[in-house]
Amino acid sequence: MSEPFRPFERIVRITVLGKTFDVPEKNSLLRCFQYLSPETIPYGRFCWNQECQYCRVECRLPDDDTSREMISCKFLVMEGMDVTRLSPELKRCLRAVLKAAPPAGSSAAKPAPAAPAKAGPAPSPPAAANGRKPSRAKSAIASSRKK
Ligand code: FES
Repeated sequence: MSEPFRPFERIVRITVLGKTFDVPEKNSLLRCFQYLSPETIPYGRFCWNQECQYCRVECRLPDDDTSREMISCKFLVMEGMDVTRLSPELKRCLRAVLKAAPPAGSSAAKPAPAAPAKAGPAPSPPAAANGRKPSRAKSAIASSRKK
């Protein structure tokens, strides 16, 4: 069986209904939806050749101010594209993926790396009132006077 995706070198970030996804460049948007949901998109009622219109989306491109309608089996994905509306068939197929994804820009989408354990010199003893460390001799004298 041949690979369904066109060869790609990098992953691009897109937004679908307010959720952020990483998908392979140089592929149609519908193929990218398949990348996100390989268990449902191949079983959707899609012709994959621009006839059925079941893959219709509304989308805003990074350099556009307004959204435009397009068919996702034809249009190649672009970094930063924002899909604002899905056809009912796409909605049905992507329902689980969209439900599971965190909202765009949330901290859950890009978890912060864990802070590394501090590795450094052991904490120094507190300084004396004059800013100097107490010498061992003075400490010994002070402890002998207490007795
Ligand atoms: S899948 Fe049929 S028009 Fe796009």
